[in-house]
Amino acid sequence: MNDKSKIWMDGKFVDWNDAKIHVLTHGLHYATAVFEGIRCYKTKEGPAIFRLEEHMKRLLNSCKMYHMTLQYSEKDLTEAIIETIKINKIKDCYIRPICYYGYGKMGVNPLPNKVSTSIALWTWEDHIHTVGNKGMRVIFSSWTRIDSKSLPIHAKATANYANSALARIEAIKSGVDEAIMLNMSGMVVEGTAENIFMVKDEILITPPITSGALDGITRSSVLSIAEHLGINFQIRDISRDELYYADEVFLTGTAAEIKSIGEIDKIIISNGKTGKIATKLQNSYYQIVHGNNEKFKKWLTYIN
Ligand SMILES: Cc1ncc(COP(=O)(O)O)c(C=O)c1O
Repeated sequence: MNDKSKIWMDGKFVDWNDAKIHVLTHGLHYATAVFEGIRCYKTKEGPAIFRLEEHMKRLLNSCKMYHMTLQYSEKDLTEAIIETIKINKIKDCYIRPICYYGYGKMGVNPLPNKVSTSIALWTWEDHIHTVGNKGMRVIFSSWTRIDSKSLPIHAKATANYANSALARIEAIKSGVDEAIMLNMSGMVVEGTAENIFMVKDEILITPPITSGALDGITRSSVLSIAEHLGINFQIRDISRDELYYADEVFLTGTAAEIKSIGEIDKIIISNGKTGKIATKLQNSYYQIVHGNNEKFKKWLTYIN
């Protein structure tokens, strides 16, 4: 966090320490807020935002599912993100736009309240700290992943993250780094804030979006990169036990990027280290996000 930087709040730049909202904000009490997590990377041609258009589309879809009427268009918000990066003179950062029902009328119904939007930036280099190529240690959470019978899980809504936060707390209090979540059918869905992949016999496998996993932008990028590298992949359900004897398991997400798992429920995976295919994908991903791969430059929005 950088308390010198500016935060965009409903069209105005506000000093970090003044970016405050009312304690009776609807989104705080009833979790009626949706957000995005986006990254901007340093490249030879200046800072570039990775897959901005896809993130903006997902944000607007999340708003739609929560019946939010935004004061800003997709173009306005895209420009606001770019302006926020420019004004903060930052080259490499995590970007957090959030839209929320604001202060006005208390009660479960959010509709009488205005929808506000803010955009904050910070550097988030290693959101789950691992050393070298050592994999994360994880457990299966005892919390079942919420599903679309209860909440629109393809909305990136703060409400969903209560489920994620409880699973992450469980992992940390159990002495490991992260938790993997199962869906209502007992199949593997995702991490608390990342999609999941396994490798078996050189084939990359990830659960379908219908499993309840977020339609992750890093997930879809990894699938495109795999195709480009000639790595075969399958999108199918994964059972809990398949992960225990997988050749490699890794998580993907904007904050996490591509992060390997070296241990699940005390069972060692891939000698506890980042495996061969995850390493290939990681290397290619870093080249792409830093603007060093012509074929994938279309995924970058350059700031200058
Ligand atoms: C629950 C969940 N799944 C998956 C992801 C990965 O999505 P993305 O790659 O778009 O960041 C996230 C990240 O925000 C998440 O919160």
